[in-house]
Amino acid sequence: MIKNDLFLKALRGEQVERPPVWMMRQAGRYLPEFMALRDKYDFFTRCQKPELASEITVQPLRRFPLDAAILFSDILVVPQAMGINFEMRESIGPWLETPIRTMEQVQAVSVPDVNESLGYVFEAIEMTLEKLDNDVPLIGFAGSPWTILCYCVEGRGSKAFDIAKSFCFQHPEAAHLLLEKITQTTISYLKRKVEKGVSAVQIFDSWGGMLSPTDYQEFSWKYINRIVEALSEVTQVIVFGKGCWFALEEMALSKASALGVDWTLSPEHARKLVGPNMTLQGNFDPARLHSSPAVIRKMVHEMIDRFGTQRYIANLGHGILPNIPVENAEAFIRAVVDYKKN
Ligand code: CP3
Repeated sequence: MIKNDLFLKALRGEQVERPPVWMMRQAGRYLPEFMALRDKYDFFTRCQKPELASEITVQPLRRFPLDAAILFSDILVVPQAMGINFEMRESIGPWLETPIRTMEQVQAVSVPDVNESLGYVFEAIEMTLEKLDNDVPLIGFAGSPWTILCYCVEGRGSKAFDIAKSFCFQHPEAAHLLLEKITQTTISYLKRKVEKGVSAVQIFDSWGGMLSPTDYQEFSWKYINRIVEALSEVTQVIVFGKGCWFALEEMALSKASALGVDWTLSPEHARKLVGPNMTLQGNFDPARLHSSPAVIRKMVHEMIDRFGTQRYIANLGHGILPNIPVENAEAFIRAVVDYKKN
């Protein structure tokens, strides 16, 4: 039994004394102890060595009273396992020497046995669970097929992912075949994570908001929903689609347990779109962590007042930025933990 099950209760829609809190990208560059390891090992080595990945996962939990841990890894380990050789380059980010832009290249992409190619992630889960000692739940995650396609086709990060979009519109068959392969791999990957002991999974659709509502259905949601259907049989699923407020109403009809929202949507609007029975997660503007701790505290309390304490998980509206002072991240978390309804 997990000692602090606030997060799981909120996912199940059960009564809680206060909302649970965690931060997207909570294991990251704003922490000096993360930077110390970053100086010694390159990014994918940190993902691939279970001792390192589990250590980085628990780093923020040693500092802050968080209600969940998220396994340190990356969404790009999935395409890597499919034979797509991503690197992480200094000041560029994810980088692919030969981006995928033709049907022949898509046909050459494999749907691997995840036990062989991603065994290091499952070992990292085992090691992390030992370190967590059942204190808080561990979240597993994957990128959405569309978001992974974006990086595979573009070959690196982008503001609008124009090349990825034109690939989908010029070569829809190839795009759908790639999305299909990513979907199949992701389902077996996440199912295995659940067998290994993660308590919930989150699907990050970081670039869903680049698509029109109609294209979102065809190129993103259709595939996310297949993952949700498959995983909801074995665990709680959270879907976070950045910029995807236009799809929330439809997402709320799925078997997801919670939906993540970014800061461009008001709590009231989000609740109206998803109805009363869906847990919402979010949506503090990550840049707002540049305000003073006192202002952060006040804004977090207002955020909870507006979302309400039930069916709600306090979080940022996207990942924490690398230049946030540690004490400001701490102010965010403590403001949730200290929240009392007036
Ligand atoms: O949330 C957590 O603490 C768990 C770890 C986590 C990472 N990446 C670690 C990481 C998670 C959940 C991710 C997901 C991820 N990775 C997403 C979806 C979420 C989002 O932010 O939209 C995406 C799009 C990626 C791809 C990726 N990986 C990018 C764009 C970058 C940043 C490149 C840069 O230099 O800014 C990464 C690298 C990455 N993944 C870092 C971390 C902590 C920075 C690592 C470093 O440079 O040391």
